[in-house]
Amino acid sequence: MHKTLALLPGDGIGPEVIAEAVKVLQAVATQAGHSFTFRSSLVGAAAIDATGSPLPQETLDNCLSADAVLFGAIGHPKYDNDPSAKVRPEQGLLAMRKALGLYANIRPVKAWDSLADASPLKREIVTGVDMVILRELIGGIYFGEPRGRNEKGDKAFDTCVYTREEILKITRTAFEYASRRRKKVTLVDKANVLATSRLWREVVTEYAAQFPDIEFDCMFVDNAAMQLIRDPRYFDVVLTENMFGDILSDEASVITGSLGTLPSASIGEKTSVYEPIHGSYPQAAGQNRANPVATILSAAMMLEGEFGMVEEAAAIRAAVDASIEAGIVTEDLKGSSTTSEVGDWIASWVTKAALKEALPSA
Ligand code: IPM
Ligand code: MG
Repeated sequence: MHKTLALLPGDGIGPEVIAEAVKVLQAVATQAGHSFTFRSSLVGAAAIDATGSPLPQETLDNCLSADAVLFGAIGHPKYDNDPSAKVRPEQGLLAMRKALGLYANIRPVKAWDSLADASPLKREIVTGVDMVILRELIGGIYFGEPRGRNEKGDKAFDTCVYTREEILKITRTAFEYASRRRKKVTLVDKANVLATSRLWREVVTEYAAQFPDIEFDCMFVDNAAMQLIRDPRYFDVVLTENMFGDILSDEASVITGSLGTLPSASIGEKTSVYEPIHGSYPQAAGQNRANPVATILSAAMMLEGEFGMVEEAAAIRAAVDASIEAGIVTEDLKGSSTTSEVGDWIASWVTKAALKEALPSA
């Protein structure tokens, strides 16, 4: 199979982790007889510096004409500390999500036995955790209008808006996922306070009634934040709106031991985007210290979800598992390997002879 991939490394550690995912994808291609064309474009602070825009038209065109997008990270401290900045790197990511119609962000959270001690939570709490967070990605308070300041500048406002149709789209995705998993959907909202949450509850409850074999319940977000670390095995599919999903998925990363291990897929109307859930980690940029696993696993999600390359994705996951078992991990997981050592190890595991049997041959 031949596929064209748009690479958007972005800022901070983005370029380093993307380079390792490319290494692993190249190993898979050689092994299984595929070929990938990689086309890189600027996004975020890197794009602002070069062009003035966080999402230049050329970058968006690259995404629109590619088979999938692999995204690194976005964000730079020089903008974080400047609330008056007119253009911000994050606008590039948000504009891309909107332009590609990426309404569903899929964030699997699976605990590795071998990493149980890397989590600050007790082993008996994290063992066996296997959930997926389905975060709505192009609505809610991230995009609602009006937003901004009053004329005087002493009052700021954001608006949370959801329509029935927006809620239904991601709800369908969540129930599809649940039907292939442990058949349980938990809607996380704040229906005791927010009108948008009450609409979510109404729409999702109505939809759930068509699937009596899928267990469905609702949980307020404050309680969900607690249950997520008190009893994370409770959850199978967590369905939630944009901002709650953003917050809860960072919290859930504590279960696996590091934010550096969690991949994600954003799917919708146009090209899908695969990206680690972590940020640009500017303190580590250029130092070969960042964990490339989240991006490598995002590439695996892309192969499976986008191109039906099930064995190839499984090979990458097996290689990542093996690297963790072998202790070839970066400092966030209390290891001493560098970013490129982890990537090299995983790529060579994929390439090694035994695997030729497992992958479809060229
Ligand atoms: C994420 C990130 C982004 C978000 C930021 C960088 C805008 O935190 O993908 O979770 O809030 O969606
Ligand atoms: Mg986030």
